[in-house]
Amino acid sequence: MAKINENYLKLPQNYLFTEISRRVKIFQNENPAAEIIRLGIGDVTQPLPKVCIDAMTAAVAEMGNAETFRGYGPEQGYLFLREKIAEWNYQKRGLNVNADEIFISDGSKCDCGNIQEIFSLDSKFAVADPVYPVYLDTNVMAGRTGNLNSDGRFSGVVYLPCTAENNFNPAPPDEKVDLIYLCSPNNPTGTTLDKAALANWVDYAQKNDAVILYDAAYAAYITEKKIPRSIYEIDGAREVAIEFRSFSKTAGFTGTRCGYVVIPENLYGKTSTGEKVPLKNLWLRRQSTKFNGTAYIIQRGAAAIYSDEGQAQIKNLIEYYMTNAQIIRAGLTAAGFTVYGGINAPYIWLKTPKNLSSWNFFDELLTKYNIVGTPGAGFGPCGEGFLRLTAFGSRENTLAAMQRLTK
Ligand code: MLT
Repeated sequence: MAKINENYLKLPQNYLFTEISRRVKIFQNENPAAEIIRLGIGDVTQPLPKVCIDAMTAAVAEMGNAETFRGYGPEQGYLFLREKIAEWNYQKRGLNVNADEIFISDGSKCDCGNIQEIFSLDSKFAVADPVYPVYLDTNVMAGRTGNLNSDGRFSGVVYLPCTAENNFNPAPPDEKVDLIYLCSPNNPTGTTLDKAALANWVDYAQKNDAVILYDAAYAAYITEKKIPRSIYEIDGAREVAIEFRSFSKTAGFTGTRCGYVVIPENLYGKTSTGEKVPLKNLWLRRQSTKFNGTAYIIQRGAAAIYSDEGQAQIKNLIEYYMTNAQIIRAGLTAAGFTVYGGINAPYIWLKTPKNLSSWNFFDELLTKYNIVGTPGAGFGPCGEGFLRLTAFGSRENTLAAMQRLTK
């Protein structure tokens, strides 16, 4: 028998959202009449913007014609999409990012999970607690941690506690780390890092020769002007940060799949002998070896949001979900819950009532109210005593869920 990668055995048996689906399925089988409202995983429910559908339809027609047919695409992604991203998401906002620094992918989950491969196995990394599980789990799989301890933490990892007391803003650690995962707007807490907090992190990274892995998958949900949408709004960030973005939540692409990574030209790592190596080169090497690109049709669909019409359509989509977020915040507040997030993010982070544990409250919501949330403890020990609701449901379901809860 082949020997396995035993690092996988350090992880809980199921990925968080797989475990939730399993429990919901059991409940649904036992209670077939229950009308379950799913506000657990952050999966979108509204149709794709019309500009995307039109662009993808035209691209399908191109694939059916020998003159316009395309086989393998460029490994880094088509230039037509990379140029649009650079122009609309960065240059129009006064930020210096060019198309050569952008790598198109099939979504941020893969990018956030795969990026750790280009760093040394003995890199010390820091994650927020609670945290989007992909950052931590992929490092566990790679062997960058020890075992899971009884306090719910893996040894060898620097956890950055995010609590109501620090407004869920992780503070830089006292010790030196090599890699830092930051997520703003945050999944799961729905809170954001302001300019001062981000500048503090950039400063830490500069002083400690660290790289910030900045997940901005929910940037399009920022409503307050003062909150940065990109880490490159901070001076010096190009020398210390990689940014991840996605069309999943921006344009409803969770099932369509498209995202991208920005790795600036002047961002370097070093070899064990101290030689500087551009991280961009390593990522290109990794992607061209292990990934054959996102489908041409999908990249055409993604590029379509970069027009006045496309921007108006995604704005409507985002407003739809953010109205849901307001409904959830108002409903929960009226019902006496303590809530966070939901202002610059599609997630609402609520304190469980009666000091219930996250999983007990999850069970109560499911069995009594037939509502699915995500238990905060699933995102890390500091998430215990919280539950996350998503604003990505339909309006009808969001209103119905709040009615059930406020009763
Ligand atoms: C979530 O619910 O946290 C997200 O949908 C997960 C993801 O984007 O992979």
